[in-house]
Amino acid sequence: MTTFKVVVHTDWTVGTINRHIYGHFAEHLGRCIYEGLWVGEDSSIPNTKGIRNDVLEALRKLNIPNLRWPGGCFADEYHWKDGVGPRELRKRMVNTHWGGVVENNHFGTHEFFELCELLDTEPYICGNVGSGTVQEMSEWVEYMTFGGESPMANLRRENGREEPWKLKYFGVGNENWGCGGNMHPEHYADLYRNYQTYVRQYGNNRIYKVAGGANIDDYRWTEVLMRKAGNVMDGLSLHYYTIPGSWEEKKSALEFNEQDWSETMAKAFHMDELITRHSIIMDQYDPQKHVGLIVDEWGTWFLTEPGTNPGFLFQQNTMRDALVAAIHLHVFHKHCSRVHMANLAQMVNVLQAVIMTEGEQMLLTPTYHVLEMFKVHQDAEALAIHGSFGEYEGFGKKLPQVTVSASVKDAVISVSLANLDPNHEAELNVELRGSSSGYTVSGSLLAADDIHAHNTFDQPNRVAQQSLTEAQWADGILSVKLPPASVAVVRLTPD
Ligand code: AHR
Repeated sequence: MTTFKVVVHTDWTVGTINRHIYGHFAEHLGRCIYEGLWVGEDSSIPNTKGIRNDVLEALRKLNIPNLRWPGGCFADEYHWKDGVGPRELRKRMVNTHWGGVVENNHFGTHEFFELCELLDTEPYICGNVGSGTVQEMSEWVEYMTFGGESPMANLRRENGREEPWKLKYFGVGNENWGCGGNMHPEHYADLYRNYQTYVRQYGNNRIYKVAGGANIDDYRWTEVLMRKAGNVMDGLSLHYYTIPGSWEEKKSALEFNEQDWSETMAKAFHMDELITRHSIIMDQYDPQKHVGLIVDEWGTWFLTEPGTNPGFLFQQNTMRDALVAAIHLHVFHKHCSRVHMANLAQMVNVLQAVIMTEGEQMLLTPTYHVLEMFKVHQDAEALAIHGSFGEYEGFGKKLPQVTVSASVKDAVISVSLANLDPNHEAELNVELRGSSSGYTVSGSLLAADDIHAHNTFDQPNRVAQQSLTEAQWADGILSVKLPPASVAVVRLTPD
């Protein structure tokens, strides 16, 4: 077993880890909204105003800071007026992007805000640029946030909501280089300027406007957007999925070999290079880092599970997904001065979901546990780290064997660690430089005897958090042992 030396500088913070980095995404796609979150008030599944209680209870434990809705590609085909008013009168439409199924619009604006209130999370709404009008977008903002007398505010009242809601985050379109209109960046930049003008700041509601950003490494998109519209945006998005294989030929979520494992690790780490390079461009136009890089779609994207609707993007979630989540969150912490928000895709039953449901049953995925363990970093100060992290060969690239991130909040230091190597344990000796305090150590571990381990409705706790026994504080050094392919969080509370 290799021993790695790591120094955490307790007196050197590199920025605040915005809690919004821990955001989620729920699209009208497959069984995410319908079945996963919304079952309706008349369902036999216990629910609060139509939203299932078991899922609510599990999600609350993640301290979800914001929730993006209604898409995704769905957002640029969504007409919000179809989703308000008496449910039985709402228009039925075809969800052309996702499986061609009927969308009955039973989950609309009011239901979404209800969900956000129940989760105590900030709503992040994505408006329709691809097939919607400036008027439609502007009226939606008026409907949601205007407190006075106006046609849209009055319509909201007729629909049962007297007071306006608080809405901070608003995206002006989604993937406008692709499903959101197949636009060139110059065209979208001009449209963005136009549409965002009418995303009004009513009363004391202040909207943080997010421009639709680049696909993966489309650096030209970022350059054009920053040059032409950087002065009228608060955030610029970036989408990147970890896809072993290729977009056309994706690989299975459950059946993979060690080469697929290392390919996945390498592709997850690619997020670091992408953020670095997009940030260099943003720095040229916005050296003060006022504009946030908003990674509002990230996660694994595998083949859909056999026997499921391919348009529903349902995939299983193993220890491999747990490692991918840990790598991403560490990368976001590292870039926290530019990355102000990120959203895992997606919340329930779709892509790298934290929760899966089947009828009345519900399970938590390995990814859920990583987010639950890492929530201690939310709004904490990220600490500078250096050291030796070993080497792990992945997809022709030299990756670190272990990745480490540390933060401090209310004097408690949290260190999260992940061992990418599926065959070897790792031992870390972590020095807390700049501190003379003694510490009491506690921690949790996510590990399994098989890299394919995952939870099923028959075995819902096959992968679950355990307490981390192999972590000690002695002579000013924290020693931690990590099993192969594992994720851990250590909490150091000053004596
Ligand atoms: O998350 C699934 C889809 O991936 C989203 O709808 C779209 O924005 C992206 O291409």
